[in-house]
Amino acid sequence: MISVKEKTLAAKVRSDFPILHQEINGKSLVYLDNAATSQKPLIVLDTLRHYYEKYNANVHRGAHSLSVRATEAYEGARDKVAKFINSESSQEIVFTRNATEAINLVAYSWGLTNLKPGDEIIISVMEHHSNIVPWQMIAQKTGAVIKYVFLTEQEEFDLDQFKSLLSRKTRLVAIVHVSNTLGCINPVREITSAAHQVGAKVLIDACQSAPHLAIDVQHIGCDWLVASGHKMCAPTGIGFLYGKKEILEGMPPFLGGGEMIGEVFLEGFTHGKLPHKFEAGTPAVGEVIALGAAVDYLTTIGLDKIHVYEEELTTYLFKRLTEISKIRIYGSKSNLDGKGRAALASFNVEGIHGSDLSTLLDNEGISIRSGHHCTQPLHRLFNASGSARVSLYFYNTLEEIDSFILALKETIDFFTEIM
Ligand SMILES: Cc1ncc(COP(=O)(O)O)c(C=O)c1O
Repeated sequence: MISVKEKTLAAKVRSDFPILHQEINGKSLVYLDNAATSQKPLIVLDTLRHYYEKYNANVHRGAHSLSVRATEAYEGARDKVAKFINSESSQEIVFTRNATEAINLVAYSWGLTNLKPGDEIIISVMEHHSNIVPWQMIAQKTGAVIKYVFLTEQEEFDLDQFKSLLSRKTRLVAIVHVSNTLGCINPVREITSAAHQVGAKVLIDACQSAPHLAIDVQHIGCDWLVASGHKMCAPTGIGFLYGKKEILEGMPPFLGGGEMIGEVFLEGFTHGKLPHKFEAGTPAVGEVIALGAAVDYLTTIGLDKIHVYEEELTTYLFKRLTEISKIRIYGSKSNLDGKGRAALASFNVEGIHGSDLSTLLDNEGISIRSGHHCTQPLHRLFNASGSARVSLYFYNTLEEIDSFILALKETIDFFTEIM
């Protein structure tokens, strides 16, 4: 059952993740909720601890040794993130608390300044609430109108409908790269190029792609891209916004305060240069440096290797899931063999609530997610209040998938007997 590839990747990296080696409810932990947040390797935990033990200081402020060292490590992490997504310059990387804050930054800074009544924003029905609500808030304030891309019959991004929505009124397109519920990988390069032809700007939500696929912002051509560190082996509390330099330069600051200024007078202020003009207040210094360590860790393993291994896991997951009768798996109906899908599956089993499934699986030490996964409009489209979701990362194994399927089948049998 264990393939050679698995031995060389998951077996090699599992010892890097201390949290995976514990029992939950008397059973070995099987962590399959990676789309919600990933686990952290020792090197990331050690980097965070080392910062607080050895050179904790505020950045960009002091001439003393600790501050210089902290600033170098902080800016070094920015360089690493820039390289990770093939950005042209580190000035194009702004650190935020998470992807949600990064989207809000663009919405409030660019959106409030550039959108007017009748302008159109295109988002899709599969967006995470973080890429819906900020645009709804900005649309309310500016009079801009939101247009939605729906799904094809195959339950994938409807590229034709998207193209039919584009017009000179379209000012912004904000689309998820990999859906956290459907697991489809959207054609972001084609979406970006079509949007640019009508003069619209494009924001890509890379929360579920950056941890798993090599991202190249220059190849995609997008104007902004956002991601959260905690889904890619880094601590919580840190995310980033990529923006093309000339676009970031034209945007006003989002938050005001220390760090983001040039000079302050009683009458007003000038703002600092990129990227600091968007980083008001003391940043999450330790978390940024630890994000840099996470990026190093992922890069050393190789995103290509991670992707190939996850493809193998995903194919196996779908082979086993589709053995189960009365299961409804959402998204990409033509890819129920798992090929071309991201390493996750959202599903419902007829007559059983997702939260009951997840609670009973937890009794077996297996962590999966249940609920709406912050995609309520998408679930409404399926007439479902929520679903169960299993999501994998490169430290998961085929055996863990077997344990999950076995526990799932036992849970379904249990409910069938009592119904
Ligand atoms: C596709 C997608 N976008 C945005 C987010 C929001 O991320 P965060 O809560 O870290 O800001 C998530 C988190 O689940 C996500 O999966």
